[in-house]
Formats: sequence, C-alpha cells, structure tokens
Amino acid sequence: MSFMTWIDERFPATKVWNEHLAQYYAPKNFNFWYFFGSLAMLVLVNQIVTGIWLAMSYKPDATLAFASVEYIMRDVNWGWLIRYLHSTGASAFFVVIYLHMFRGLMYGSYRKPRELLWIIGMIIYVAMMATAFMGYLLPWGQMSYWGAQVIINLFAAIPVIGEDLSIWIRGDFVISDATLNRFFALHFLLPFILAALVFVHIVALHKVGSNNPDGIEIKKGPKGNKWSDTAPADGIPFHPYYSVKDIAGVIGFLILFLAVVFFMPEMGGYFLEPPNFEPANPLKTPAHIAPVWYFTPFYAILRAVPSFAGTQVWGVIAMGAAIVVLFFLPWLDKSPVKSIRYKGPIFKGMIAMFVVVFITLGYLGMLAPTPMGTLMSQICTILYFVFFLAMPIYSKMDKTKPVPERVTK
Ligand code: HEM
Repeated sequence: MSFMTWIDERFPATKVWNEHLAQYYAPKNFNFWYFFGSLAMLVLVNQIVTGIWLAMSYKPDATLAFASVEYIMRDVNWGWLIRYLHSTGASAFFVVIYLHMFRGLMYGSYRKPRELLWIIGMIIYVAMMATAFMGYLLPWGQMSYWGAQVIINLFAAIPVIGEDLSIWIRGDFVISDATLNRFFALHFLLPFILAALVFVHIVALHKVGSNNPDGIEIKKGPKGNKWSDTAPADGIPFHPYYSVKDIAGVIGFLILFLAVVFFMPEMGGYFLEPPNFEPANPLKTPAHIAPVWYFTPFYAILRAVPSFAGTQVWGVIAMGAAIVVLFFLPWLDKSPVKSIRYKGPIFKGMIAMFVVVFITLGYLGMLAPTPMGTLMSQICTILYFVFFLAMPIYSKMDKTKPVPERVTK
C-alpha cells in the first residue's frame, strides 16, 4: 500500500488537493489584477511569522516597550530585518488589499452569486484595520500614543454610553500601560482570526467559483475541455497553471517589497512616521497628529464633518458609514453587466472619480487641517457617498455593451 493510500484512508488529502487545486477549474482569462488574493495570503503569513519573532523580544510594558523595540533593532540578531519586514508588511498588506478590492469593484466580483464572498472580505478588511491600529500602539512612540488617544476619544462622542465605552476600551482614563497590555494581547490574537476568516473566504470562493475580467459565469457556459468532459470549457486547472502564474506574481511583489524593506523602510515617513522615533510622552502633544496612510481617507471624512453643539458624533457616524456602505455594494450596483469592460461611460466615469476622490481624501487626511483642506475634504466626502448611494440610479441608466458568450482573452 502506498503512503498516500494509507493517508487517504484516514484523511481526504488527495480529495482536497484535487477539488481545490489540481481539478479546480478557474477561468482561463485571469489578468494582473488576480495576483492580489494570493499576495494577500503571502503578506498575512509574513505578518504572522515576523510578528511571532518580534514578540519573543518585545516587552508590552509602558516603561519598557520603546526600549525593547530599540533593542530588537540594535542587539537582536537580524532583529532589524524582522521588524522592517513586519512594519513594511503592514503597509504592503493594505496596498495589496486595496488593489484586491479595486479589482472586485472593476469586474463586479461582489455581485450575485458572490455577495457573501464580498461580505466576508469586508469583515476581513475591518479586522485588518483593528489589527493594524492596535499594532501601531506597541512601539510606544509619540504617534503610537497620541494616535490611539485621538481615535479612542472618538468613541466618547457616542451619546450616553460613549464616555464609559472609551474608558472600557482603554482600561483607564487615558492611554496607559493597561491599554498597551490589552492591545498586545489582541494584536497577537487577531491575525489568527484573520487566517480563519481567509479560510472561510476561500471556501465561499470555491463554492461559487471565481469571477473574471469579462464578468462571465464560466459555470453557466459550455462544458468540456482537454482535462475533463464535465468541467467548464473556459476553465483551466488551478494547479499547475495558476499556482505557477501566482509564483511569478510573488517574485514581482518580493522585488518591490524587499526594495522598500532594505532601502527605504521608513518610506519617507509614510510607513514609519518621524514622531514615532521619540518615546511616548503623555505631557507633550505633537503639533500634528495623523494616522498611518491607509487610514487617512477615513480620517479626512471624519474631519470634514464640523462638530455640532460641541459633539464630533456626526463626523464619527460619517466615517463609520464610509466603511459600512461598502458592505452594501452588491445591492447598490443594478447594472445588467458585471465587468467594467462592458459597462458604459457613466459607470467608468464614476469609478475614475471615486479613485481620484479616495486618493485625495487620503492625501488631505495626512495634512494639518486648513480651511481650504477642510472644504476639499467636504467636497470629496460628498462625492465618496454619491458614488455609492447614487449607484442604483446611474448603474441602471448607463448604456452597456453586449457581453460575449464566452470569455475573451
Ligand atoms: C487577508 C485578506 C484577504 C485574502 C488573503 C484574500 C484572498 C483571496 C484569494 C486568494 C482570492 C482568489 C484569488 C483572487 O481572486 O485574487 C480572493 C478572491 C476574492 N476576494 Fe479576497 N482576500 C482578502 C481580502 C478581501 C477583501 C477585503 C475583499 C473585499 C471586501 C475581498 C473580496 C474578494 C472577492 C470579491 C473575490 C473574488 C474575485 C473574483 O473572483 O473576481 N477579499 N481573495
């Protein structure tokens, strides 16, 4: 009896391999944009592995945390590399995920039957934001401390329960050792929850099958290809075709990623911000507090809304709504076609506008507030919501092109 037969009689190894890799038929026309799912998995693994090694030398104690990071950078063997892989990895994770989500937006990958796949993705995105936010407190620098202070204070704007809620989150009246300890515990836990969510994401993907740049359901098309009579004619086995193609994506990604890790780990202050090279000082507020770049579009929306009657609660609601609205995307798009390739000028124009607005908000969120900046943030905030909330109307009235029967290239 072969070793594999022995295993298969006790565990469905070959069955899983075939169902999800060797005999999993994915559309044959995947392009550049389909690299980012596997790259997201790679970055998640990088974060978990480097994170565990960092945790071996890091001290989650307000009096020791900053120095323990310096110790990792200077004295731990390869500690500088492990830390830069982790800090650059955090930004890379968001670059990859924003491109992954944008792909979904372009090709209508959120639409029936992939609504739940999209929602699971959104839960992953929110969990990623929580993970990054808590991780940023750990080096206990000035921006760690004051950034967390500003964001947790937002919860205090919620009527009735806000004040108690913010104290409950911090475990104190201000950010303190208690906050650092719990953030460390949760920052260690959340990536494993993320890994479990990614598993569910892939299960949902394999239930419905991948979308593709044409937005055509290959499962509904003709059957039979050179590997199988029952597989979709426009499908090719994931392994070896896409496993090999994804490796090419990994190599391209690693060249760029490691160039940043080795040659510009601070990325001009965008990945590691200058105030964070100074230890946290509760008595000295930095002149300008801004979150890391991947949060700034939402931070700009928060600041765009003026406070009424001394409460910031409407800004907090707008910021929350900017994220929540993404969950509803599958039901906002009423276009008869999925992919941008066959959508009309209105939808294409709106997506282009959305990209400009999102990047502008991200830029404005990094700057100190000015009257001009606030006005621009307000305009961009309105356009951000117009993109989503007017979608049921413009996606319906747009002139679409005929969708071919079979996938093109
Ligand atoms: C840790 C984060 C994530 C990982 C590891 C991950 C992984 C993957 C992988 C491996 C695929 C299949 C390959 C591909 O289509 O690129 C995929 C597809 C997909 N993901 Fe994610 N994903 C993550 C986050 C997200 C997020 C935040 C969203 C959206 C809110 C999302 C929405 C989708 C959709 C709609 C598809 C199907 C795309 C299509 O078939 O055209 N994912 N994901």
